[in-house]
Amino acid sequence: MLNLSILDLLVPILGIILSILYVPVTLLTLLVHRRFSEITTWRSFRQAWFGRFWYCFGWASRALFAPDVEKVLAGAHGVVLDIGTGSGDWGVDELERWGVKPGTVDTISTVHVLCSVQSPALLVGDLYRYLKLGGRWLVYEHVKVRRKWSLTAGFQAMINIVWPYFFDGCSMTRETEDLLLHSGKWTSADLRPAPNEGWFNALPHTVGVLVK
Ligand SMILES: C[S@@+](CC[C@H](N)C(=O)[O-])C[C@H]1O[C@@H](n2cnc3c(N)ncnc32)[C@H](O)[C@@H]1O
Repeated sequence: MLNLSILDLLVPILGIILSILYVPVTLLTLLVHRRFSEITTWRSFRQAWFGRFWYCFGWASRALFAPDVEKVLAGAHGVVLDIGTGSGDWGVDELERWGVKPGTVDTISTVHVLCSVQSPALLVGDLYRYLKLGGRWLVYEHVKVRRKWSLTAGFQAMINIVWPYFFDGCSMTRETEDLLLHSGKWTSADLRPAPNEGWFNALPHTVGVLVK
């Protein structure tokens, strides 16, 4: 059945409110644990803030995403690169340091990551090279609202003006499907809107598998 709950629009607003609540919590924790260096720059504080917030929020929202995420991740096999499970920005030069060579990875998974990466096109292009022929890219990412002239799309664009400040640089309006589809040649590409997401969902997902 079509989900037309307009209350879905409240979700990003609640997310921002929760994130704000974590500012004093993070500050207090850093002071109590004498982690003063993390308060000296905005960047390091933002990372500590988001890390703490996501630790709780990510865990609490797990039940919501788990059915779709687990289904897609069940396709992982062989050498697996699960991108963006830790904190901080990251580049493929790290892979070379760990001895991972281009064309040797069986599975890449990105779950709620490409929204937060500073230069997604660069990272996606680099990662594509590391995937074997026949290797799979498992995807679960939130994306730009597909109905361009809808209320939800307008609302998403508006909220996205402030959203990155509260979610460590995350963007709500990335066209990640297009980015992935055009990052290289795929022998099969099956990316779809996540099931059961309503018309007023301002954080709609794309889910699926790309095979090189
Ligand atoms: C919203 S969190 C999601 C974390 C985890 N994937 C999850 O679903 O709980 C976004 C993650 O993207 C990571 N990230 C941001 N830029 C990245 C980059 N350039 N390379 C790898 N990971 C990155 C952040 O460190 C953060 O862990």
